[in-house]
Amino acid sequence: MTSQSFTIAIDGPAAAGKGTISKAVAAHFGFAHLDTGLLYRAVGSKVLMGEQPIRAAQALVAEDLEVDGLRTAEVAQAASKVAVIGDVRQALVDFQRSFARRAGGAVLDGRDIGTVICPSAEVKLFVTASAEVRAERRYLELREGGSESDFETVLADVKARDERDMNRAEAPLKPAEDAIVIDTSDLSIEAAIAAAIGVIKEKQG
Ligand code: CDP
Repeated sequence: MTSQSFTIAIDGPAAAGKGTISKAVAAHFGFAHLDTGLLYRAVGSKVLMGEQPIRAAQALVAEDLEVDGLRTAEVAQAASKVAVIGDVRQALVDFQRSFARRAGGAVLDGRDIGTVICPSAEVKLFVTASAEVRAERRYLELREGGSESDFETVLADVKARDERDMNRAEAPLKPAEDAIVIDTSDLSIEAAIAAAIGVIKEKQG
């Protein structure tokens, strides 16, 4: 463990493989990992239970990220709806930035890490894949988790979220100018992880 901070920002659209790559990268380098989508999912889930989005975001605590049921398609849609609200995003900034600068290194994955949360991250990756490939992966994931869903519904869901995430006024989903794009459409997960590790090693010098 080093006492210095080193931030790796991994952004990209829904179900592109950010989560799997981020976890593997964090384990490889011994860095801490924050799935920032969980922050928005936790707020979305509270809103589904009747809370006000801004108040829910302001009152969010780390334990809220550990509750069951945050990975459902319903919560994902609710997350992307609260994520367009500027005050919701603002309420979550400090938590993400202090995580990013912790000693020993951090990997954050999300939509706006390289562009807004950590514009001076040492490494910025943008992980993407075609909507069909992403929907297929998410479909299998949801099915493994025991959810009933069909491919067409998952594809429509992924596209609706992409659309909302890319076209919002606050922190829209897009690659940072200095991000390195990894398209995982034709890559196995092992190859995608290896590509990410390769880029990071190069940046570490
Ligand atoms: O895992 P998946 O890619 O499907 O979604 P997620 O990363 O858990 O994010 C859920 C939703 O939260 C996204 O569709 C975004 O609307 C929002 N989000 C965001 O706006 N900014 C982030 N840094 C992370 C997630």
